[in-house]
Amino acid sequence: MSEFDRLMSASVRTEDSDTEGTLRPKQLKEYVGQEQIKHNLSVYIEAALGRHDALDHILLYGPPGLGKTTLACIVAAEMGQNIRITSGPAIDRPGDLASILTNLNQGDILFIDEIHRLSRAVEEVLYSAMEDYALDIMIGKGPTARSLRLDLPKFTLIGATTRAGMLSAPLRDRFGITFRLEMYNTDELASIVARSAKILNVQCDREGLYEIASRSRGTPRIANRMLKRVRDFAQVKGDGHIDLRIAQEALNQLNVDELGLDRVDRNVLLTMIDKFGGGPVGLDTLAASTGEDAGTIEDVYEPYLLQLGFIMRTSRGRVLTPAAYAHMGRTAPESAQGGENPPAMQQTTLF
Ligand SMILES: Nc1ncnc2c1ncn2[C@@H]1O[C@H](COP(=O)(O)OP(=O)(O)OP(=O)(O)O)[C@@H](O)[C@H]1O
Ligand SMILES: [Mg+2]
Repeated sequence: MSEFDRLMSASVRTEDSDTEGTLRPKQLKEYVGQEQIKHNLSVYIEAALGRHDALDHILLYGPPGLGKTTLACIVAAEMGQNIRITSGPAIDRPGDLASILTNLNQGDILFIDEIHRLSRAVEEVLYSAMEDYALDIMIGKGPTARSLRLDLPKFTLIGATTRAGMLSAPLRDRFGITFRLEMYNTDELASIVARSAKILNVQCDREGLYEIASRSRGTPRIANRMLKRVRDFAQVKGDGHIDLRIAQEALNQLNVDELGLDRVDRNVLLTMIDKFGGGPVGLDTLAASTGEDAGTIEDVYEPYLLQLGFIMRTSRGRVLTPAAYAHMGRTAPESAQGGENPPAMQQTTLF
């Protein structure tokens, strides 16, 4: 099963794009969770507005579907500025970036998604743009070539990435503000689902909300997608109203277990148990034995398994914890690490 077939995939799929816009919160106070980020951001926004100045450049990083694009749009709205949205792979040549930059107005927000995928040459143009609000361009070729410095309006760059570790140090250092988005807890996801249900005009009782929330692996995008699938079940098999029974039935049909793990997650865990005795196993070996892409395992599956405390990252590779064995109904070998207290919430820090 490819990553794109998964209900649980946190990446954007075409079916999301029509509703993603309508479900996206527009103001900071509608944005659920990430309390510390919201608090700090509101201080920075108020301060910048008070000084009639642009915000410092912001780097947002974290697994897909946690609300990076949403947050960037909210920052623009709260600052009362326009946002220009583009992405690393879309900016092919330095000239493309130069034309985007010279078309910005004072205070505009430039959002570059997947910023880790900018080419080296493009990145270099960005350095002086971010630091000095200037663009150095070469005119002519050979001995007559000269460099020209163009002043740019003071803008705010918001960069988003799922892989902060892949950002070059000079680029990373030019961001004044860096936020790491955390996975959401069940209460937060339940309020996101409640908000979306209201917008989509679906009735969903409290147990139904929590059932969807607890199976959406800490990710709002997945929560919203599951709500839509459960709504279909409720409409066809019931009276359109979502309760615990309908939510459970729908999600079981979709092969999503009570923790939100799907077939691929379970395959990863079982492969680690059966083929590698619980690890340690290297990422590439694990990818080859499960038939998944190493990058996808790292970006999409692993963050949630780490969050659950099912997997630990060690210098010798990934290791399963006793909690993972218990969830899979297997007995952990004596040697399994983690003991009584699996490293729940443990995440590898990238900086
Ligand atoms: N804090 C939040 N409160 C409410 N809804 C949210 C929140 N964060 C995300 N969402 C919902 O989840 C959807 C996905 O969020 P978004 O597109 O911002 O994720 P992303 O981090 O940019 O993902 P990607 O890495 O794939 O670009 C949004 O459409 C929005 O409806
Ligand atoms: Mg995004």
